Amino acid sequence: MTPAIASALMPLMRGLDAETAHGLALKALAAGLAGRDTGREDPALATEAFGLRLRNPIGLAAGFDKDAVAVVPLMRLGFGFVEAGTVTPRPQPGNPRPRLFRLTEDAAVINRMGFNNGGLDGYVARLRALPRPLPAVFGANIGINKEGADPERDYPALYAAVAPFADYVTVNVSSPNTPGLRDLQGEERLAAILDAIAVTRAGLPRTPPLLVKIAPDLADDALGPIVQACLTRGVAGLIISNTTIARPPLRSAHATEAGGLSGAPLFAPSTEVLRKVYRIARGRLTLVGVGGIATPEQAYAKIRAGASLVQMYTGFAYAGPVLPRRIADGLAALLRRDGFTSVADAVGKDA
Ligand SMILES: Cc1cc2nc3c(=O)[nH]c(=O)nc-3n(C[C@H](O)[C@H](O)[C@H](O)COP(=O)(O)O)c2cc1C
Repeated sequence: MTPAIASALMPLMRGLDAETAHGLALKALAAGLAGRDTGREDPALATEAFGLRLRNPIGLAAGFDKDAVAVVPLMRLGFGFVEAGTVTPRPQPGNPRPRLFRLTEDAAVINRMGFNNGGLDGYVARLRALPRPLPAVFGANIGINKEGADPERDYPALYAAVAPFADYVTVNVSSPNTPGLRDLQGEERLAAILDAIAVTRAGLPRTPPLLVKIAPDLADDALGPIVQACLTRGVAGLIISNTTIARPPLRSAHATEAGGLSGAPLFAPSTEVLRKVYRIARGRLTLVGVGGIATPEQAYAKIRAGASLVQMYTGFAYAGPVLPRRIADGLAALLRRDGFTSVADAVGKDA
């Protein structure tokens, strides 16, 4: 099968409950059934971020492949980078189903999965078994268990465990479905976690760059302290953003479900937070723009607002395996239209 044929089959999945469809899609990917991208990469898309070379700036956001079971097949769809997780120290089932809802009329999703995952040991074993070199950059996204967590102990231990196998590591302190998690974005809590990771890093032979993923619901005056805490503790970048607990006007029947909203309605608010952080960080942090990207124009808008890289989840879940190639080709055309010879030249132009 090719990505185009796999995408053409996507509407069949819509008849299934959203989580069942997602599980099937992952199985098909892991089995190599989604095919691989054979498009030619425009050289203008090759880019560098936190010391890594990427063939393009388009990534798969965390949560799609929580257990790192389809990393290489996902990379072969044409993503420049793939982030797997969130992985927690111990396995946990997450919230009761249903916990994933399509808001089709809004091109959106609400989820309250709650970090369902198989735990760190299995995750690391799968990373260890990946064929090297990988066809794209790999990011590991780490988080804490719902019960019995100690963030200052758990994040450093998670970092140390994935460090030998990841090109970068994302500290997730922004999912809305683990009680208290988002409080870790507060200046003092974040500083304490980052300090603890710094101590652990000092003793490791391999220290992939560290990123922090933030929520789109932070007040403006919380952004400066987060940037400051990151800058003074060796954080390479921020991923902006996770899902929102806000409920802009929505049309779908599932609009009032509890959880994090992603997709089209998240595009504008997450891009605004990205722009604000870019103005504060002024090039000292590398920013990854995520939230509501489904078209090349939206990927380009994130870059112009300050993102060096972009990620997507919901847009990919709706459009299927053709999306990375479609966004890459469209983005290259937009860069050329505006006279940019590289992604880096366009970063922050609208900030
Ligand atoms: C079903 C689902 C599960 C997710 N799980 C995670 C997760 O485990 N860790 C994480 O950092 N983000 C998770 N996210 C958030 C996405 O990575 C992304 O930040 C968010 O969905 C916004 O991007 P989008 O509008 O392109 O989907 C999840 C999103 C969805 C829809």
